[in-house]
Amino acid sequence: MDVGQFKKIKIFDTTLRDGEQSPGASMNISEKLNLARQLARLGVDAIEAGFPIASEGDFEAVKAIAQEIKGVDIVGLARANEKDIYRAYSAVKYAERPAIHTFIATSDLHLKYKLKMTRDELYERAVSMVKYARSFTENVEFSAEDASRSNLDFLCKVIDGVIEAGATTVNIPDTVGYATPFEFFNFINKLKEGVAGIKDVILSVHCHNDLGLAVANSLSAILAGAAQVECTVNGIGERAGNAALEEIVMALNVRKDIYHAVTGINAMEIYRSSQLLTHITGISVQPNKAIVGKNAFAHEAGIHQDGILKEKTTYEIMTPEHVGRQSNELVLGKHSGKHAFKEKIVSLGYLLSDDEIEDAFVKFKSLADKKKDIYDEDIDSLVAKSHPLEKYELKYVNVVCGDTVAPLSMVKVMIGDELKHSSSCGNGPVDATVNAVERIVDSKAKVIAYEVKSIRGTTEAQGDVSVTVEQNGVHITGRSAHTDIVVASARAYVNALNKLYVYNSVKRHVCSLEIRS
Ligand code: KIV
Ligand code: ZN
Repeated sequence: MDVGQFKKIKIFDTTLRDGEQSPGASMNISEKLNLARQLARLGVDAIEAGFPIASEGDFEAVKAIAQEIKGVDIVGLARANEKDIYRAYSAVKYAERPAIHTFIATSDLHLKYKLKMTRDELYERAVSMVKYARSFTENVEFSAEDASRSNLDFLCKVIDGVIEAGATTVNIPDTVGYATPFEFFNFINKLKEGVAGIKDVILSVHCHNDLGLAVANSLSAILAGAAQVECTVNGIGERAGNAALEEIVMALNVRKDIYHAVTGINAMEIYRSSQLLTHITGISVQPNKAIVGKNAFAHEAGIHQDGILKEKTTYEIMTPEHVGRQSNELVLGKHSGKHAFKEKIVSLGYLLSDDEIEDAFVKFKSLADKKKDIYDEDIDSLVAKSHPLEKYELKYVNVVCGDTVAPLSMVKVMIGDELKHSSSCGNGPVDATVNAVERIVDSKAKVIAYEVKSIRGTTEAQGDVSVTVEQNGVHITGRSAHTDIVVASARAYVNALNKLYVYNSVKRHVCSLEIRS
C-alpha cells in the first residue's frame, strides 16, 4: 500500500522468535506478553510470536499473545511439514489476524548436507506445505531459507510455485549474513524479473548481521522493491543478530528523500521498546549503538557542543525526543499514591492484576524510601520481569567487606519449604555472595559475565546488575536492580538460576537446534 508519494513498508518484528534465539535471551510467557504489548504500541505490523512446535512454553506464549494482542498479524513459525504447520495454526488461531510462516532451505548446500533432498523433492514439499497452510488461514508467508546463497533460477521456480499455491508473502532471507548491499539489491531485482506473480504478493526480506550489513542489506532491498522487512528490537537474534528495527525505521524516516518510504511505527516508542527488551533479557546494547545506545545523542567534542548550542542541526540529524528519549523526565516520588502509580504502570504498557499492582506498589514504596527520584526505567525494573516459576528465593544477604577484612557473605535461600543457610569468602563481596548461594543450590552453572550500571542519578541510584551463567553450552542472563549493588547482584544471580531451572524443565532443544542449522 502506498501513502501519497511514499511507499508503505511493513514492519515484521521477530524479536520474540529469531531474537529469542540469541544466547541468554530466553523469556518466559509473561515477559513475552509484556514485550508483545509494547510492540503493538510501537506500531509493528506483524509480531512473530514464536515457534510453537519448539516447546510447550513457546506454544503457550504464542497462544497467549494471539488471544490478547489485536490489530497486528500474529505469526507462528513452522518448518515445511504438516506437524509444525498444524501446531503453529493451533497457537495463532485465536488471533484477530492469524498468520503462518513456513520455511525450508533452497540452497544446494542445505539441500545436500542438511535436508538430503533433491531440488524436485524440495519444490514439491514447499508447494504442498504452502497449500496445507492455506487450508487454515489466508495469511501465509513462505521463506526460502538461505535464499541469498541459492541458485537464482531454482529460487525463482520455488517462489513461482509457492505463490501459485497461495503464499501471500514471500520472504527472502540472507540467513547467514553473507550478502552485500549492492549484490542484494540486484538479487531482489532479478527475482522480480524472474517471477511474474511476485508483484501480487508481499515481497519481504530477512537479513542477518554476520558482516554487520543486515540493516544496509534490508534498506537496499527496499530500494529494489521489498515491501516488508523482518527485524528485531536492538538487532538481537541468532549469532550476530538480525537487522535492527530502530535503525531501519529511522533511516527510512530521516532519509525519506532517498527511500520514499514510510512505516507505521510510532518512533516515540522506540527507546522504551529497546529499554524494555534490555530489562527483560538482561542484554544491554553497546553505548555507541545507533538510535538507542547510551551515547547515540551525546556530544563530547567541544566543537560539536558549540555547534549544537548555536544550531542543533549542525551535528544532529534527528533529536533524542524523536525516538522517545526524554532525558530528564521525573516520573514518581516518595509521596506518589497508588492511583498515580497505577496510572504510570498502565501508561508504560503493563497489564497487571490487582495483586501484582499491590506487590509492585510495595516494592515502589520501599525503593522511594531509598531513592529520591524514580524514573520510568526504575519502574520497568520493578515490574518488567516476572518470576512465575521460582525454585529459589533469596531471603537474606549480609556481607562483611572493606579494605582490611577478607570479604565474607552470609546468605539464606528458600528452596520449596526449606530455608537453607550458607556463608562463603570470595575475591570481593559479590564473588563471596555468589559462592555462598552456589553452596546452597549446587547448580554447577558457571558465571561467565557480570555487569553493573546505575539507573540514572548519582550515588543514590539503583545498581542495575546482570549476571550470565553457563550450563552445558546454554547461556542464561539474570537481572535485578537495587540501591545496594551486592543485593542486586545476589538477586540477579538467583534470577539467572531460576531461569535456568525453567529452561531445563521445558526441554526445547531438539527443535531449536534444528532451526539453527
Ligand atoms: O534466518 C532465517 O533464514 C530464518 C528463517 C526461519 C526465516 O530465520
Ligand atoms: Zn533468521
